[in-house]
Amino acid sequence: MGARLIDGKAAAADLNAALATRVAALKARHGLTPGLAAVLVGDDPASQVYVRTKGRAAGAAGLLSREMRLPADTSEEALLGIVRRLNADPAIHAILVQLPLPQGIDPAKVIDAIDPAKDVDGFHVVNAGRLAVGLPALVPCTPSGCLYLLKREVARLVGARALVLGRSNIVGKPMAQLLLAEHCTVTMAHSRTRDLAEECRRADILVAAVGRPEMVRGDWIKPGAIVIDVGINRMAMPDGKTHLVGDVAFAEAREVAAAITPVPGGIGPMTVAFLLQNTVAAACRQAGLGD
Ligand code: GUN
Repeated sequence: MGARLIDGKAAAADLNAALATRVAALKARHGLTPGLAAVLVGDDPASQVYVRTKGRAAGAAGLLSREMRLPADTSEEALLGIVRRLNADPAIHAILVQLPLPQGIDPAKVIDAIDPAKDVDGFHVVNAGRLAVGLPALVPCTPSGCLYLLKREVARLVGARALVLGRSNIVGKPMAQLLLAEHCTVTMAHSRTRDLAEECRRADILVAAVGRPEMVRGDWIKPGAIVIDVGINRMAMPDGKTHLVGDVAFAEAREVAAAITPVPGGIGPMTVAFLLQNTVAAACRQAGLGD
């Protein structure tokens, strides 16, 4: 029997519809329109698609959506200036600078320049630190989306063995923090982990966020595990077309796992949904309204 498919696309559509209703109420009752600015530097095709998708979803939910596209040769100083202007703009409550940035721009400096209250990605050290010590924070969107789906799939997260494969600031590290806060027993693994397959086989919950196409094979997965695949990798097929594949060999994993997110249609839409949630949360906090 194949694993249950975890439909992130449907879950995200439900979240977005409920959020649109809340946004309409915020406008009607408080005259507040949450505003999201997305900044894209350069012409990376995947980043262009992501930023367009985020902008469209924000508009559809009734948010103010501002997209800023800058040439690849934009200087770090110019980008920092734009971030500072957005920090000071009262119509903008949430700032996203799409990563990766072109060579020559230090992403740490740019993230550090974002007002933590408007740091919709939750990448600023203030938000990362607040998450780590259990204080309210803007939490990175992809791990939030993963946790939301996991909570619906797993009756009891307390004490579950969770393995996070990948140690990025965007996904792996905050994902581990969120699972710890849910009282999971968390292992962080990565490309240099010894006996990686064996580590994975111990996990009741496996979150793959390593950015390597189909790295996790079916026999790495504990029978009955819940598998969350964060990877979005473009792979050239023998027919010359490119397909999107995850970090997990889906067809193999499906035979072993209890439930698995597909790629596409799993975590991708959840990231966008939580970007919108964070935008509204940031706007409410800045306006002094409880969210
Ligand atoms: N690049 C890949 N994922 C993300 C994300 O969630 N936010 C930003 N800003 N850039 C990314």
